[in-house]
Amino acid sequence: MKRLTIILLCMIVVSLQYSCKLEKETTSDQMMNVFVEDLIQKMTLEEKIGQISLFTSDWSTTGPSMRNDYIDLIKQGKAGSVFNAFTVDFVKELQRIAVEETRLHIPLLFGYDVIHGHRTIFPIPLGQASTWDTTMIEKAERIAAIEATAEGLNWVFTPMVDIARDPRWGRVMEGGGEDTFLGSQIAAARVKGLQGASLSDNNTVMACVKHFAAYGAPQAGRDYHAVDMSERSLFEWYLPVYKAAVDAGAGSVMTSFNEIAGVPSTSNKWLLTELLREQWKFDGFVVTDYNSINELIPHGVASDQAHAAELSINAGVDMDMQGSAFLDQIAELVKSKKVSEETINNAVRRILIAKYKLGLFDDPYKYCDKKRETEEIMTPEFREFAREVAAKSCVLLKNENKTLPVSANVKKIALIGPLADSKEDMLGFWSAAGQADKCVTLLEGLKNKLKGSVNIITVKGCNVLDDGFDEIGKAVSLARNVDFVILALGENRMMSGEAASRTNISLPGLQMKLAEAVIKTGKPVAVVLFNGRPLAIPELNKITPAILETWFGGTEAGNGIADVLFGDVNPSGKLTMTFPLNVGQIPVFYNTKNTGRPINPDNPHEKYKSNYLDSPNTPLYPFGYGLSYTSFNYSDIKLNKESFGMNDRIIASVDVTNTGVMDGEEIVQLYVRDMVGDVTRPVKELKGFKKIHLNKGETVTVAFTISPEDLAYYHQNMSFSADTGDFELFIGTNSEETKNKMVTIK
Ligand code: NOJ
Repeated sequence: MKRLTIILLCMIVVSLQYSCKLEKETTSDQMMNVFVEDLIQKMTLEEKIGQISLFTSDWSTTGPSMRNDYIDLIKQGKAGSVFNAFTVDFVKELQRIAVEETRLHIPLLFGYDVIHGHRTIFPIPLGQASTWDTTMIEKAERIAAIEATAEGLNWVFTPMVDIARDPRWGRVMEGGGEDTFLGSQIAAARVKGLQGASLSDNNTVMACVKHFAAYGAPQAGRDYHAVDMSERSLFEWYLPVYKAAVDAGAGSVMTSFNEIAGVPSTSNKWLLTELLREQWKFDGFVVTDYNSINELIPHGVASDQAHAAELSINAGVDMDMQGSAFLDQIAELVKSKKVSEETINNAVRRILIAKYKLGLFDDPYKYCDKKRETEEIMTPEFREFAREVAAKSCVLLKNENKTLPVSANVKKIALIGPLADSKEDMLGFWSAAGQADKCVTLLEGLKNKLKGSVNIITVKGCNVLDDGFDEIGKAVSLARNVDFVILALGENRMMSGEAASRTNISLPGLQMKLAEAVIKTGKPVAVVLFNGRPLAIPELNKITPAILETWFGGTEAGNGIADVLFGDVNPSGKLTMTFPLNVGQIPVFYNTKNTGRPINPDNPHEKYKSNYLDSPNTPLYPFGYGLSYTSFNYSDIKLNKESFGMNDRIIASVDVTNTGVMDGEEIVQLYVRDMVGDVTRPVKELKGFKKIHLNKGETVTVAFTISPEDLAYYHQNMSFSADTGDFELFIGTNSEETKNKMVTIK
């Protein structure tokens, strides 16, 4: 009733102020602003500090629980948001405390790390990115949002959009890979899928873009390590992806743990205020990562917690995740005038606006629907779609002698390896509320598909990590007695994700020994890889006829992989991160610089060239790479004209023909090289891609329109524009195998 009165008053104010020509959206914005200002007026400083403080719930074997002191904080209006709390009854009770037992009845936000699905787990984001299918990724996020909201959540700490060029860093599994152009499209698709048509719907969640900024470039690939790079690299490669997510409407942004050139993100005023708010016009709120304000002390920029709180709030942080720094320090900082109350009001306003946009002031229990909780979780349709995504995320890395798909003549299969039947590992890291017992392993997927028509015998062979379990002899005997061997190898799910950096990214434990022994039997073998990062596996690549990269495929992993192994789905995934030949090459990525002494391809070890004494420069598998069971032929590039002006565009096209024996999908990629720039330019940059379906024998013309804006870059003075001059275009099946053609901007 009270809320209705306020709304009515607002409407009167608004209609007096503006003519009836006023846009509907503007009217509702006005109503929102009046409502929020009215609320801020009524708040004590203590209540405001509560709104900018976020605390975690716990999760035990019996379900969710909240520490008593945090419950007390909610009751006192000292905690405005909660994370890690879900399931309807639990959320409802916490929300009830907030809206019924606090003076101002302000509802809570409920946040959670829904990184690749909530209950129905999709492949890890790096796997999803391998589909290069932004519609598919958007739909996966839509499903994640439906399930998350059905269990009480209204805010997710997704998308993670950190560009990453170093596979030693475990968190590469969470992002879209190494490329800015592709990463930006994926980032926007994720935000759209999560936030849907309107944040006020009961099945959409507020997104949180993270980790702002450049968290994906820690020195030596070590998690949380310092980031130091040129301003140009930051603007050119790292920042555009966050901007794409912000432009897509993301409601919140999370600061990163790292420093950039000496300034930790959580106290970086240039980053959070000048760039994000003033230049990019971001109007949502900024939350820290876990305890990051307190971490300003070991970073060495704050002398104590009060100093850390002062630096971060004045830099532009709006909400403190789990640090208690705002809760414990802000009142005193305001009293001593180190922080203005206006700064606090700004932070509170942004958070209240988010709550308003989610519709929580209208109905704080709108995400607490028991019926939805039972009906909209893991539906057969969601699982079916997850199976499709799992299959489409697979990347066929090698397929000599058409080893795959498994021939219909095969009657006896040996499935060998520590990842053959591991439900838990299918989830991958950051698997939110995913349940291992609901996952389909590869063994189960094969059984589901073959329904007894093929005899499948399995042996674990060894453990993933240690050498304490050795069944290699048994595996070899088994392999000798079958028609076909599938080796399920890789990392366990905890070997990537947060705090999971590795210096050795080859196959761990006894797995390589197992592979060598089994392959020596001479039986047809396909390796199915499970891992959260590019691996350095040159030896495996040398001896294995077929390798299928499957990442961690989620709930339906086993079914999706079986679809690919038996040819019901023709693999179409392409790598979005380079697979190095060895760790010493890292960072190795496709859009590198030519240098003044480029390697001589005809004499790669020529002295005084940019090369290694003991390794080629080229990686094991390049960016954009992935095979199909069919083959595609590319015609030469055709141009509608050879040159174009600054206000003009050019169309470059190729005819792609499916020359193989199966229908299939191909991801046609366009790269560009600026031959002479004001600063050095990369040897190539992705500027477009199209995923096409081709029936066998079919030819499709794929055309890309290129305008000068697509060729713009940061000059020495950091102005962003395109130059006249020559550009090389590359169109092809991956970043290395392309057709080339020169064009000129006049
Ligand atoms: C730390 C991680 O860096 C971040 O990605 C995550 O959202 C928070 N913890 C909350 O779990």
